[in-house]
Amino acid sequence: MGLAMAACGGAGERVGNALQGIWLGHPLHPVVTTLPMGAAATTLALDAARLLPGRREDLGEASRFILGVGIAGSLTAAATGVTDWQHTQEQARRVGLVHGVLNAAATCMYVLSWRDRGRGRQVRGVAASAVGYGITLASGYLGASLVYRSGTGVDQSGPRLGAAQWSAALDDDKLDAAPQRVEVGGTGVVLFRNDGAVLAVGERCPHLGAPMADAWIDRGRIICPWHGSQFDTETGRPLRGPATSPLSCYQTRVRDGVIEVREAAPAVLRAGGIRG
Ligand code: FES
Repeated sequence: MGLAMAACGGAGERVGNALQGIWLGHPLHPVVTTLPMGAAATTLALDAARLLPGRREDLGEASRFILGVGIAGSLTAAATGVTDWQHTQEQARRVGLVHGVLNAAATCMYVLSWRDRGRGRQVRGVAASAVGYGITLASGYLGASLVYRSGTGVDQSGPRLGAAQWSAALDDDKLDAAPQRVEVGGTGVVLFRNDGAVLAVGERCPHLGAPMADAWIDRGRIICPWHGSQFDTETGRPLRGPATSPLSCYQTRVRDGVIEVREAAPAVLRAGGIRG
């Protein structure tokens, strides 16, 4: 998926950013999964309602329609899921793979159910979607485990500098062209120069916690060394995934040859400027 996007150039990058959820401020995948899961549950409920006394045949049409909506939603969820999964590692990668295989199996059951219902084989159709829903629940358990146990999709920036007052970080003449990690009040901060200005960001990439001291600067962007996420150097806003959360950014100033930093107020970040 990543290679295909890269081969498509700028358009591929925009599609990748959209699927990752940069525009949303967090991963898109958990949001779009609500559609297939909700549609499958609704189908199950409508099928159960058809068994009640005075059963309504029109519910059969409704459940097939909703099942079709859920199948379409499954394809969108698969695209966003693969986009997130390609950057996972070790156990999260294995769990994510099983999660994806289960989702594919569930979608196959829904497609079979949708086809059987259309051909009048109602019992088979209802049974197939019920089995599919059971698989979806198992897959949902693994999806939750990916978030709550492995931290996939969770902001991995770590502690932020919380000081509202200026704190000395480094002598100005000790900061050369490369990003440099310093500690301010026990919190890691990365200083660097861009376009003549001294800037400061958090020490960890919000995606999977890469050390931003190893990042490089390119045309107003700071680029993560692990998976290439790009952030605006002034605001920390993600400009290219897989990171979807902003990189911590701090205000800076130079006083008496010493670089000082402090927490940047949200209003300052929204205005797009953090220089002291
Ligand atoms: S750690 Fe993955 S993009 Fe930074």
